Amino acid sequence: MKHIDIFDVLNDSALLGEEVTVCGWVRTFRDSAQVAFLELGDGTSFARLQIVVDKNAIEIDPECVKNGASVCVVGEVVKAYRGDGVEVNAKKVRLLGKCPSDYPIQKKRTTLDFLRTIPHLRLRTNTFTAVFRVRSVAAQAIHRYFHQHRYYYMNTPIITASDCEGAGEMFRVTTHGYGAKAESEEKFYETDFFGQRAGLSVSGQLEGEVAATAFSKIYTFGPSFRAEKSNTTKHLSEFWHVEPEVAFAELPDIMEIAEEMLKYVIRAVMEECKDEMNFFDSFVEKGLKDKLEHVLNSEFGVCDYTDAIEILKKENGKFVYPVEWGCDLQTEHEKYLTEVVFKKPVFVTNYPKDIKSFYMKQNPDGKTVAATDLLVPGIGEIIGCSEREADYDKLVSVMKVRNMDMDAYKQYLDLRVFGSVPHSGFGLGFERFVMYVTGMENIRDVTLFPRWVKNIM
Ligand code: 4AD
Ligand code: MG
Repeated sequence: MKHIDIFDVLNDSALLGEEVTVCGWVRTFRDSAQVAFLELGDGTSFARLQIVVDKNAIEIDPECVKNGASVCVVGEVVKAYRGDGVEVNAKKVRLLGKCPSDYPIQKKRTTLDFLRTIPHLRLRTNTFTAVFRVRSVAAQAIHRYFHQHRYYYMNTPIITASDCEGAGEMFRVTTHGYGAKAESEEKFYETDFFGQRAGLSVSGQLEGEVAATAFSKIYTFGPSFRAEKSNTTKHLSEFWHVEPEVAFAELPDIMEIAEEMLKYVIRAVMEECKDEMNFFDSFVEKGLKDKLEHVLNSEFGVCDYTDAIEILKKENGKFVYPVEWGCDLQTEHEKYLTEVVFKKPVFVTNYPKDIKSFYMKQNPDGKTVAATDLLVPGIGEIIGCSEREADYDKLVSVMKVRNMDMDAYKQYLDLRVFGSVPHSGFGLGFERFVMYVTGMENIRDVTLFPRWVKNIM
């Protein structure tokens, strides 16, 4: 169907006075005996296009003047009667698909909770078109940032035999059907598709390290899967993961990269999604734009884990989970640090080794590892980051302590045998980032079809 995007009609001044064909869904309408006004949206821009229908001049199917109906309009682009924009004086309005009155997207019922029950229709609301345009622009900006800095984009496997984070949160991949029996776990997997246990990847890091020790700078951007039963506003079973891995980089180097990349992407979103950001600023998180400007204009905080514990201990009465050295930080602690103490994003560094993954570089103190989490107000952790242990013997000794299967990690260990180099990387939860820049409070509202425990719609 020959037509042009509503974005172009609204933004290309050369179209003024021209005849155009546009298609879209009726978002709102006003109807009278003489004139009908249709607000048409096609998803290409936040703003909608007003279509003016002179009912004395043209005939219009009454089904076109209904919330949610899809129509195709031919008309002339003219200066808007009100404001400085443009509108279209219709010459022809054709119904593409009618929309009955039980269309669930009605102004009065659109709470986010309700919309979550209709993921196939919620995208047609203002909020969701804005969220997903921002998400798309942010994804493009991430690729652009890495491409401009000569990182190569790697696609690491989704089906894998190794559990990168080692936390036992993997979804199993099996072709054994219902009722498959076996005398032992080993036998069960032996006769399975891959002849061994396999699962969905929780992170592309281990394979990313393989690529980084050949290309120096790589990144992955794909889905990760976690079978954790966390029923929270910031956990999904399937999320998108941005994972750069950089050879010859130590912890401070990778922290610098993370900060620069995040600022680059925030700036891109603010420049390319002005209407969306104004909308979020007014209706979703008051002061969002100032918050992000402040982030762009200040340096992220840095706080050693041990210092963070000292700060938090003074406030132990405020927390559900009191802290002491050695504990994992809960979201309430992370939020306190970033919202109350630093009031901006903050890297917490040098965590106790026992609460972190096996692959992290061991610090000389023998107690901590060169790892950092980036915490942001409103969410808590959005990045998990570390320098990797590049010393073969040290890595093997930690893996032994953790009873890991050395054979399964032979390739990973080989990287420490053949030309080992210091290297570092991080994982950014893409949905958490989208929450941060849009102010959306529930991760289920920034992904098309959210999956979480007992929920796969
Ligand atoms: O901290 P995590 O577990 O780190 C890793 O997976 C490393 N292998 C990354 C690396 O160094 N390459 O996860 C990284 C980020 C978290 O900070 C969080 O933003 C996000 O991934 N994340 C989730 N996002 C949504 N739902 C979940 N269940 C998530 N689990 C982690
Ligand atoms: Mg983490």
